[in-house]
Amino acid sequence: MKDQEFRNKVKRIYLGVTLFFGLLVIGAGALIYKLAYPSFLSFDDVKQIETYREVEDLDKIENGIHLATGFKDDVGLQTVIVSCTPCHSAKLVTQNRANKEGWVSIIRWMQETQNLWDLGKNESVIVNYLAKNYAPEEKGRRVNLEDIEWYDLEK
Ligand code: HEC
Repeated sequence: MKDQEFRNKVKRIYLGVTLFFGLLVIGAGALIYKLAYPSFLSFDDVKQIETYREVEDLDKIENGIHLATGFKDDVGLQTVIVSCTPCHSAKLVTQNRANKEGWVSIIRWMQETQNLWDLGKNESVIVNYLAKNYAPEEKGRRVNLEDIEWYDLEK
């Protein structure tokens, strides 16, 4: 009788140990699978799709504006994007206004102080694009008022 009880006990312990190691193996398997395929059991799939869409839209131009950078669409756009956005935002460029000499001097300043490389043949393409699309606004100030009928303030 005692012998039987002992055997049952051993069986139960054996079953428990087997179950424990079984779960351990399954858990380790899932972990390794997760390491190999990081998307396994993660819930940010939606985010990944959105990131992909943004990349897809990089060339999109709407109403004459290149959406990803804000640059105006014109001859030389791609050259300007490639040359002028690696270090800073395109906004820094588009919020400035200058004529050809002005743009050349901004470029020289960056070459002398900010490690901007020699732009070679692209420089004239870039300067033409900038001077045409980001020229100084001639009517920056409102036009002077003319032909005004002044009147005396009553005392
Ligand atoms: C090698 C890096 C680099 C590249 C490439 C570069 N810039 Fe810059 N640029 C800078 C740095 C650095 C500044 C200063 C940023 C700041 O002040 O925060 C700057 C500032 C400017 C400014 C503002 C100047 C001012 O007076 O405030 C303009 C405009 C500009 N860059 C235009 C351009 C244009 C146009 C191109 C393409 C031909 C270009 N950048 C390419 C590094 C670069």
